[in-house]
Amino acid sequence: MILLDGKATSARIKAQIAVQVEAMVQVGGKRPHLTAILVGEDGASKTYVANKEKACAAAGFTSEVVRMPASTSEEALLAEVARLNADPDVDGFIVQLPLPKHINENRVIEAIDPRKDVDGFHPENVGRMMLGLPSFISATPFGIVTLLEEYGIETSGKHCVVLGRSNIVGRPIANLLSQKAKAGDCTVTICHSRTKDIAKYTREADIIIAALGVPEFLKGDMVKEGVVVVDVGITRIADSSEKGYHLVGDVAFDEVAPKASYITPVPGGVGPMTIVSLLKNTLKAATSRQS
Ligand code: GUN
Repeated sequence: MILLDGKATSARIKAQIAVQVEAMVQVGGKRPHLTAILVGEDGASKTYVANKEKACAAAGFTSEVVRMPASTSEEALLAEVARLNADPDVDGFIVQLPLPKHINENRVIEAIDPRKDVDGFHPENVGRMMLGLPSFISATPFGIVTLLEEYGIETSGKHCVVLGRSNIVGRPIANLLSQKAKAGDCTVTICHSRTKDIAKYTREADIIIAALGVPEFLKGDMVKEGVVVVDVGITRIADSSEKGYHLVGDVAFDEVAPKASYITPVPGGVGPMTIVSLLKNTLKAATSRQS
């Protein structure tokens, strides 16, 4: 079993990005700038945004977090999005999800200028991605395909089972893996909460992408020997540690790992790859804006 080390892989890519940024600055260019809008007090969202800020600093980007209270109206959030769309200093920005219930997420995402949509959530970027056209690919699916590529994992002709059909992970990764591409050419099955007998599909799978958000859903008896497992789940489970919680993936790691050829850990697998993919997208946005 080989661990798909997202921490080490992302650190390597981050260092390459930092070199590119310094080269841009050397020739009089501006450092890429990423802004994150954080609405409300969700603990996990705060951690994600703090990690994104840290990664920006490590790569030589400038960044800013716009914090808005949970009571923010949809109109006020849309006004902030319009301001960032128009701000020439901002190369890319993200609106951290989930948003408070009273705000229509789709309306907010559609208001983002697709050229600054480094999360790749705008329908224009999603549509272009699905057509295999140049676009911003959303960070988690982008991170997963990069990790598979970095480890030279053969995907062509393999049966990939995706657990979960979210707009952020399940559906885009299923589409990417079915495309004619390096980490692609898979036969893809999407399973979700209404799928009957999920184990029937996972036992057949050469590659499993687990993105259901159900802690330790995938058990040892649900996979075949030699399977490649990518665990996207990161559920916080309360405990008596100093932090008050620990992170648990969608895969029962101790049961599945002995049967797997490759498997991602949680934490240290997909999470850091997601963040470095956001940096890649922001660098791309900055480069195209400065050229
Ligand atoms: N919430 C969970 N994942 C993400 C992400 O990749 N981007 C944003 N904006 N919000 C998220």
